[in-house]
Amino acid sequence: MILIDILTIFPDYFESPFGIGLIKKAIDAGLISIRLVDIRHFSASRHNQVDDCPFGGGAGMVMKPEPIFRAIRHIGRGGGYKPRVILLSPQGIRFTQDRAVQLAGLKRIAFICGRYEGVDERVSEGLVDEELSIGDYVLSGGEAAALVIIEALSRQIPGVVGNKESVSGDTFYGKFLKYPQYTRPQHYLGMSAPPVLVSGDHGKIEDWRMNQSVSRTVQRRPDLIDHGTLSESERKIVDKVNRTAGEKKRLRVLNDEKLPEGS
Ligand code: ADE
Repeated sequence: MILIDILTIFPDYFESPFGIGLIKKAIDAGLISIRLVDIRHFSASRHNQVDDCPFGGGAGMVMKPEPIFRAIRHIGRGGGYKPRVILLSPQGIRFTQDRAVQLAGLKRIAFICGRYEGVDERVSEGLVDEELSIGDYVLSGGEAAALVIIEALSRQIPGVVGNKESVSGDTFYGKFLKYPQYTRPQHYLGMSAPPVLVSGDHGKIEDWRMNQSVSRTVQRRPDLIDHGTLSESERKIVDKVNRTAGEKKRLRVLNDEKLPEGS
């Protein structure tokens, strides 16, 4: 059982995502417990103020430190374990599948969802164990990021995903992106599922999938290819895809040379 506290000024945001699908099942089965903690309840001001103007001037508002410190102190008492405190922000370290696996092994996590232009830095200094970003883009707040991380880590908790293979076959679990998937009907709108997938030959299906996985990764995410860890057969596929890409590029250059300027 993992206990997750989410500190937010928008607890309603999480109502529907935690009420459906795998996460709901995991909560119902007692594998995950999620508590929504409304930061506003920990404001000391009469109007439940949780933000203020930035010192030094500038646009937007900054989340005040006191309500967040109080909220963490409040939740810290329950559960028997000290939570790992994670602040969601675009300034954080990039969240990855490896981190999802590690977080799934913890007993308690507290996510702080930042809003506005930022969170007073003393929250990071005095409370936060790690700051995570889900990617190089700016969201309006950390709520969507917390959801992404909770969904990714819950898939790694034993018993949450029914079929173990569907987790170990996930993209990023191995070194490559996942192969393309097809289901019935085999022919649709003039497009067909590859015949090998309906051949019943499991060896050939495995080979095809491996080929597709490696090719896709080379074409779409070459940054994921770690040449030091490739097997002989994987390296052959990588070389072939790179050779084909090189030939296509040369052909494009030749074609472009034939075209009149401005086309
Ligand atoms: N808050 C705003 N943008 C974010 C991002 N990219 N990751 C995590 N939290 C955020």
